[in-house]
Amino acid sequence: MKGRLNRRDFMSSTAASVGTLAIGAAAPKTVGDRAPIVIASGNGLRAVERAMQLVRGGHDPLDAAIEGVAIVEADPNDHSVGLGGLPNEEGVVELDAAVMHGPTHGGGSVAAIRNIMHPAAVARQVMQRTRHCLLVGEGALDFARAHGFPEVNLLTVEARKIWLRWKETRDANDDWLPEPEDKVAAYVRETLARRITGTIHCSVLDTHGDLGCTTTTSGLAFKIPGRVGDSPILGAGLYLDNEVGSAGSTGLGEANLLNLSSYLVVEGMRRGLSPKDAIMETCKRIATTSVRDPRRRRGDGKTTFNVSFYAVNKKGQYAGGCIYPGGSMAVHDGTSARVIGCDSLYDK
Ligand code: GLY
Repeated sequence: MKGRLNRRDFMSSTAASVGTLAIGAAAPKTVGDRAPIVIASGNGLRAVERAMQLVRGGHDPLDAAIEGVAIVEADPNDHSVGLGGLPNEEGVVELDAAVMHGPTHGGGSVAAIRNIMHPAAVARQVMQRTRHCLLVGEGALDFARAHGFPEVNLLTVEARKIWLRWKETRDANDDWLPEPEDKVAAYVRETLARRITGTIHCSVLDTHGDLGCTTTTSGLAFKIPGRVGDSPILGAGLYLDNEVGSAGSTGLGEANLLNLSSYLVVEGMRRGLSPKDAIMETCKRIATTSVRDPRRRRGDGKTTFNVSFYAVNKKGQYAGGCIYPGGSMAVHDGTSARVIGCDSLYDK
């Protein structure tokens, strides 16, 4: 496929770029006797493997989560996160990310940040090196530069071609002339067949029973410049309480902003619900509130969009769930890393 990196190129780009432990991570501590669990969204198999390796070595659960998702942030073939993420409507990649740290109940985030491959690691610096929780746009980029994060062009050839096709075919009355259909690469057609809202979330329960989590994304493909989704908003795209559990989300961010959904999942677990029941209760809440607006209601009365949740509680029980079927999550339970299906509120 033209423009795609082959596996060897990607492995060397990954090896070169993943190194988020160098800026702001704590030194490893002693290893505890609790069974660790790492969960992530379905695109996070490599993330859960790496995060599990780190918590087993005594690393902080948040540092493990950030370094795990950094593999996906650095993957040019994942068009929903970091390098290779699909750009906004002007062809500029803008990233959102947040982190939460269980032992300190700390949190930090960056929104609409450009040119930085690892926004989750920048969010950790916001948490550790400022008195603030959220930096946006130019301010977030200046802050990242000040902390030594390298600037890179996040728009890959492949993502640019997908964006260009989207731009050229939007309006038959404008002056952009699209390539003939038979010249369009299959990956461009396949990607444009649905609007990408992908993201990666990762939650870690470490060997001391402490939690850390992060959510990182390039957001809604072809968004209005400056649009911020749920991922960098604490309580919406992720939330944790070290006494209770951790949760995060992928899917249409506006639905989570309007319902503070990840907070709801954690509060459900606080009331004693299992991770699965807390997720399903949250999906039901979103399904109920969202369809009050006809723009978010299908003809059958259900939502026009999907969201997915991933949650782990303090006991190490975990679940993934969505409004509509087809979702998946990655999990490492200490024995193996695998991708499993999510439960859903509706069956179609
Ligand atoms: N959930 C990712 C976004 O909507 O930006």
